[in-house]
Formats: sequence, structure tokens, C-alpha cells
Amino acid sequence: MEPMSISKAPLVDAFNRQITYLRLSVTDRCDLRCSYCMPEKMQFLPRKEVLSLEELHKLSIGFIERGITKIRLTGGEPLVRRDVIDLIRALGRKVGDGLEELTLTTNGTQLARFADDLAAAGVKRINVSLDTMDGELFQQLSRRDRLVQVLQGIAAAREAGIKVKINTVALKGLNEEEIPYLIEWAHAHGHDLTLIEVMPLGEVEEDRVDHYLPLTAIRDRLEELWTLTPSDKRTGGPARYVDIEETGGRVGFITPLTNNFCDGCNRVRVTATGQLYACLGGSEQVDLRAALRSDDPDRQLSEGLDLAMRIKPERHHFRIDRGAAPAQPRHMSLTGG
Ligand code: 5AD
Ligand code: SF4
Repeated sequence: MEPMSISKAPLVDAFNRQITYLRLSVTDRCDLRCSYCMPEKMQFLPRKEVLSLEELHKLSIGFIERGITKIRLTGGEPLVRRDVIDLIRALGRKVGDGLEELTLTTNGTQLARFADDLAAAGVKRINVSLDTMDGELFQQLSRRDRLVQVLQGIAAAREAGIKVKINTVALKGLNEEEIPYLIEWAHAHGHDLTLIEVMPLGEVEEDRVDHYLPLTAIRDRLEELWTLTPSDKRTGGPARYVDIEETGGRVGFITPLTNNFCDGCNRVRVTATGQLYACLGGSEQVDLRAALRSDDPDRQLSEGLDLAMRIKPERHHFRIDRGAAPAQPRHMSLTGG
């Protein structure tokens, strides 16, 4: 009997959402230790658990064959993985041939070194995380003194012709007062900026409630300063945007807590060990590493994706309560931003 051919059907979940966007973590390691993200003594995964470059590539191709058009590489910090640029080059060759966009979320510390290579590989847009432009606060927040490198990295990316979007986690009593200045600075340099509510993922050494800042409050404050017009621009992610007339730039809001964005979810995440998480806020997962290492990897991978579509939940149920355990025990650095 002929073996059944391997499905090339688009990925559609049980709630009729088409999944076209893969966020792929290439390492859980990071050279910063942002206090809302991980503890100082973060326990990283043993290297042998992490997918090889070839496996990451094969996995990505499997997704592209099932209709994924956008891949975002994340971490941890993707650029601390030694050989990551080879993967970026290989996937860059798929842009225009199945893939519409290859992008990256980075903390920027290594960007100055990689900007030209990224641009040459076909990366046109990246997200850079930046919560403050105050050197002391940067060190307090990230437990490392790297603000200057990050700013140099952003400048290098810009000069290489890569469009940089800034991601800022809004933190009560920390960068709260600085947010309008961050927006002004970003817009003056041609960068959009997206604000993010802190999410209860993984144990850290603080209670996140202490710094949780609902973006509804920030938005009200920005309205007092500037003229905000809701924008219909979407980038395929969960952010909602406003145009600011006075600065000529755009501000995004990612509000998993005050307003969940699950209806239009178009993505899944895969960790550096090949665990597919169907939802950032859920525990539903599929072991794609086992599929990749099986004796029929193409078929097993494709079937793994079908399974993911069946178990993807309708929405997440994040809440931030004092003293409560995180919604998920895993850190953001495992599944990536
Ligand atoms: N909640 C919200 N954002 C987080 N990030 C990391 N951990 C968390 C969390 N618990 C952010 C980073 C970066 C993006 C990848 O995710 O600051 O901007
Ligand atoms: Fe690293 Fe990003 Fe986590 Fe900061 S938020 S520690 S940069 S993974």
C-alpha cells in the first residue's frame, strides 16, 4: 500500500484561527537578568537538550510547508547563541520563497556586531527590548551594565537599514515616569515603540504585582500630553497602535492583562528544546524534538503540528494577584517574546 502523503494543509485551530506565525526560541540563555523575567541565578537548560542548528532549520521548514509565513527568532537572547547567524542566513533564503518575513527579538547587547550580517541575510525589521535610557536604572532592572552597548546596537541596526521597533515593559515606580521620554527619543530616531504589561510567567525574586502597571493608565497620561489617534496598522502580533501627531511616530500597546488579545491569535511558540507551546499562557504542548528525532521526522513533525491545532486553547487566563503563583511556571526566556 502507498504510504499516505504528508499533509501540506494550512494550520487552522479548533477555533478557526489560521496559524501563520512561528516564534522560535533558539536558546533560553541570556546575557541580561531582567528582574521581572528571571532570577539572578537562573537555571538554564543543559546544552544537550537544545535543538541543533540543523534541527531548528528542519523544524522551520516543516512549519513553512504548513503555511507559516512569518518566523520570529527569540530567546532568551537569540544573538548569544554562537552559530545563530548561520540559521538566520539559511532562513533568510526562504524569504520570498514561502516565508514573507524573518525577524528577531533581541535585547540589543550584541547587535552592533551582528547588524550588517542580519541585514545581508534579509532581516528587515527587528524588535529591541529597552525599558530605560537611564544607565543606573538599566543596571538595576537588568542586573547588568549594558545600556551603552544596547544603544550602540540600535544605532548600528538603523545604519544597516533595519527597521527597529522598541519594546518597553511598563513598570510601576521604575520606568513609569520615563515612558513619555522613551517615546520621544524612539520617535525622534524613527522607531515605533510598543509598551508591554508585565506577565506572570516563571518565578522571580520579586512579586510582580509591585511593578505591574496597567497600560490603560499610561494611555490616559499620554492622552494628556499628545494627540493620539487609533491606527489600523497591524504587524501580525498582538499590539494595538496609536499614532501620535506631535512626535510623528507610533505607540503600540500589548495588554495581556487589561485586555486579552486571544481572538485573533495567529501564532505558536517553540522552545529551544523543540517543545511547541500552543499558547503563551497555557500548558498545552507538543514535543517536536521527539518528532524530529524519530525515524519518520517529516511525517511526525507534520502530525505534531496537527495535534497542536487540536489542543490550542481559546484564550489565556492571566491574572496578577499578590502572593499568587505565576500563571505558568516557565519563564518568558523559555518561550521567547
Ligand atoms: N512579562 C512581560 N514581558 C516580559 N519580557 C520578558 N519577561 C516578561 C514578562 N514576565 C519581555 C522582554 C522583552 C520581550 C521579549 O518580553 O522585556 O521585551
Ligand atoms: Fe534576557 Fe529578555 Fe529576559 Fe531581559 S527580558 S533577562 S533581556 S530574556
